[in-house]
Amino acid sequence: MTVGKMQLAKRIDHIAIVVQDLDAALQVYRDVLGLPLERVEEVPAEKVKVAFLPLPEGDGEVELVQPTTHDTGIARYLAERGEGMHHICFEVGDIQAAMADLAAAGLQVLEEEPRLGSQGQKYVFIHPKTAHGVLIELYERPK
Ligand code: CO
Repeated sequence: MTVGKMQLAKRIDHIAIVVQDLDAALQVYRDVLGLPLERVEEVPAEKVKVAFLPLPEGDGEVELVQPTTHDTGIARYLAERGEGMHHICFEVGDIQAAMADLAAAGLQVLEEEPRLGSQGQKYVFIHPKTAHGVLIELYERPK
């Protein structure tokens, strides 16, 4: 196994799936796949409603994301491409250092400064065109 020089991504924090209807999606991810529903949260800053389903025996969780308006990036993504995988989130130790390293490597970080999430996490997104077609999110969780 080849190990990269920098150890930025420590673990998968979550995989986000954009859906039209949270309740319908829960009938698959909770009721069929059996992922426990931890909570549903409105995120006004992002204009979405999110269901958090942590994997019972592992690390990380599935987030089902339903846009609550039509004027956000994720709502346009849903309208244009339909439901599906939206992004994968990796946890990093130091998000400022990670942002600098990624920018130096030519990846496009979409925020100038990390944003602050409801769990106290800092987060940024990486443009998919610089990450082989995948929208990547980075989290720094509070210590
Ligand atoms: Co996310």
